Amino acid sequence: MYRFRRLRRDERIRSIMQETRLHPKDFIYPLFVIEGMDIKNPVEPMPGVFQYSIDRLEEILEQVKTAGIGGIMVFGIPGYKDPQGSQAYAKNGITQRAVRLIKDKYPEIYVVVDVCLCEYTSHGHCGMVSGAEILNDETLPYLTKMAVSLAEAGADMVAPSDMMDGRVAAIRDGLDQAGFTQVPIMAYSAKFASAYYGPFREAAHSAPGFGDRKSYQMDCANGQEALREIEADLAEGADIVMVKPALAYLDILKEAALSFTLPLAVYNVSGEYAMVKAAAEKGWIDERRIVMENLTAMKRAGAKIIITYHALDAVKWMQ
Ligand code: PBG
Ligand code: ZN
Repeated sequence: MYRFRRLRRDERIRSIMQETRLHPKDFIYPLFVIEGMDIKNPVEPMPGVFQYSIDRLEEILEQVKTAGIGGIMVFGIPGYKDPQGSQAYAKNGITQRAVRLIKDKYPEIYVVVDVCLCEYTSHGHCGMVSGAEILNDETLPYLTKMAVSLAEAGADMVAPSDMMDGRVAAIRDGLDQAGFTQVPIMAYSAKFASAYYGPFREAAHSAPGFGDRKSYQMDCANGQEALREIEADLAEGADIVMVKPALAYLDILKEAALSFTLPLAVYNVSGEYAMVKAAAEKGWIDERRIVMENLTAMKRAGAKIIITYHALDAVKWMQ
């Protein structure tokens, strides 16, 4: 009989045997920046998450710095929206100004920016719209302009989350032509049309004004197609590919880890966070143990990078 329990006898041997270990550098913390002054707005379905105006960012950036996590991912919430999402690529747009401030005051923090139009368009879709249709090719130049303008503001990495076909190639080309050959692209490659994004859309004011995102984001039933999406983004020049959401899609992450050698990211999304927080507030689960178990599972399944709202708590619990 093989006695597995010999290596589980006490904490010392268990910690030696641990196959997967989380590290603060594994985490990227999403940050919501809103137009205005002196704002720190709680996001109701995401306890512990706030929208900050630029002048109030220092408080959270200080925590990010102290935690020593891998980086942050910035989402801007503009004061003004139009059908073309012009604030997404305005030189003085909310996200551009936030990135400039962060790079100026906290040059040691690695700054990733989400590249997508839904926070900036009056219709709330991730691309240009004609009637009820979300246009693909017409959207690419706008995404490219947004990525280049954020690179100009100082972003270290861009992360397109729109799910238009061909956007990675278009953005790569735009960045290169503007001289940003060293700015990597982390593509939201296998991004599913998911009910788990509900709380985020409240946090980022980005719910679609009509219809849904099913004509561009993936059907949750499709695993093979997810691998083809990853393959396509790889061919277009993505440096890192992402699976999103995390927990209900760990099979996709694991398959991707077995099929490809490039670095994988996973996005532990707002709905996943909200469920944990809600049950924890009721006293029905042990938040700390659940969070560490979830994050460990994501890394075990193959994630090199975990984008998570739990990042700052997780680091405290790891100490
Ligand atoms: C923008 C974007 C979304 C998320 C990240 N980038 C929302 C969406 O696609 O509707 C979701 C993040 C989360 O739920 O935490 N396209
Ligand atoms: Zn979007």
